[in-house]
Amino acid sequence: MPAMPTTDRPRFSAALAFLVAGGVWFLVAGLYGLAGAVHLMAPEFFNNIPWLVFGRTRPVHVNTMLFGFVAGSLMGAALHYVPALLRAKLWSPRLAWVSFWLWQAAVLSGPVTFAFGITQAREYTEYIWPVDVCVVLAVGTLIVNLLMTLARRGESGLYVSVWYVVGAMLWTAALYPIGNIMWRPQTGAVPGILDSIILWFYGHNVVGLLLTPLALAAVYFIVPRITKTPLYSHTLSLIGFFSLAAIYSHIGGHHILQAPIPNWLRTLSVVDSVAMIVPVTVVLVNVWMTARGRLGMLWNDPAGRFILVGTFWYLITCVQGPLQSLPSVQKVTHFTNWTIGHAHIAVLGFAGFIAIGALWHVVPNLTGRRIYSRRLISLQFGLAMFGLVGFFLVLTAAGLVQGQAWQRGETVYRALPSIAPYMILRAMLGVSILASAAVGLYNLLMTVHRGEPIENTLAQEVQA
Ligand code: HEM
Ligand code: HEM
Repeated sequence: MPAMPTTDRPRFSAALAFLVAGGVWFLVAGLYGLAGAVHLMAPEFFNNIPWLVFGRTRPVHVNTMLFGFVAGSLMGAALHYVPALLRAKLWSPRLAWVSFWLWQAAVLSGPVTFAFGITQAREYTEYIWPVDVCVVLAVGTLIVNLLMTLARRGESGLYVSVWYVVGAMLWTAALYPIGNIMWRPQTGAVPGILDSIILWFYGHNVVGLLLTPLALAAVYFIVPRITKTPLYSHTLSLIGFFSLAAIYSHIGGHHILQAPIPNWLRTLSVVDSVAMIVPVTVVLVNVWMTARGRLGMLWNDPAGRFILVGTFWYLITCVQGPLQSLPSVQKVTHFTNWTIGHAHIAVLGFAGFIAIGALWHVVPNLTGRRIYSRRLISLQFGLAMFGLVGFFLVLTAAGLVQGQAWQRGETVYRALPSIAPYMILRAMLGVSILASAAVGLYNLLMTVHRGEPIENTLAQEVQA
């Protein structure tokens, strides 16, 4: 079973800083999401205040959630457990701080630059060139730190979580400059349809080869620890890792099936989207078989509950994903809120829930303090679940209403009134997710400052 490092006197590490910042970004990005939802409900509400118009709040919401909250928190947790799995100290805590500040500078640039309309205006690659440089340097420094830690490890076997974390960083180091067309700083784009193909190769892989491996790494680390059982199968874990890389990496074309992309790319994207059933099944079988007969232990653990439910959201996401990759389905669902529903169950339900679970699992070790309030974690969970289930139902329904309207040849303008009630419900449900973020951040800050110190003997129990 993966072990935890012994912390003599926990200090405020870069790992903890990533997690605290992740909690702050969850709240900030949630506020921008709510602003966007209010705009879609009542377009005149903000009376055209430039920095609150939808075209500006949306990219802030999306980038800050993806890079600030989800990826940032998962990287913070990884900075803690990867050295533990390698039975080594992190090579350079100082370099980890450099990565931290570069990453946070990039995330902070979103609300600042997008508010003034300074953006590359391509979805998921809105950050401007100097910010891209920060991201690449942050990832590069993390890679150096991880590889040097690997080189000095005391453990010969490489547990699958290490594969996923290092893989995620290496893939992102390659993908980010390509997706952001960094060799063309003025535009961050190339002309024509090629731009869409490259963009969606990258956009798809931000979730597929950054968020997914980081989230799965945390699941593989935490589930055996909470259930106190060894991993069901190391062979399956590696099959899951390599099949993700082999199948998920090149199917971004399923985002632009309606565009004039080459037929071979369209076919490849659809066929391999369906083939995603392989890595997803392999991972879920492995994780659930590990927890077999001990699901109660996961459910009753504050971190474990987020992780367990995150794996169920992964299943739902990855049943819906291949389905909506089929051209006959996408003819109805594309360009509608159906996709927005998928995005939320994927990024919040799967990767986000696992990020929150990972946070609560590692924070006692990082701080040497007990969690301030387990009841507040239950409240955080309930609020997030309520909001997310609601989002999924409301956005899927709205998407189907829109899809039917497109099929009948309605114009966007005439279809809008029919989705107005769904937009009102979505904004209301957003308040629940926002409250969840606020409760979580409060509990985290209280844990860091006021959490009851874990006595030595007890600390060892927690770490065992
Ligand atoms: C506070 C509650 C939230 C509200 C009110 C909200 C609202 C919104 C809105 C209005 C959009 C734009 C939809 C459109 O273009 O029509 C959006 C997009 C998005 N949101 Fe949220 N959101 C919330 C929470 C979250 C969370 C917690 C995450 C992830 C952790 C998230 C991830 C995303 C993503 C990835 C998109 C892009 C979806 C796409 O382009 O398909 N949101 N959200
Ligand atoms: C079996 C795996 C999956 C498949 C086959 C799949 C398929 C798809 C497809 C076809 C779309 C585009 C729908 C459209 O535009 O009409 C989409 C959108 C999206 N997916 Fe997935 N998905 C999968 C898993 C995931 C996972 C694990 C995540 C997150 C960690 C994710 C996050 C997203 C997001 C954020 C979007 C919205 C992109 C946008 O338009 O802005 N998906 N997915």
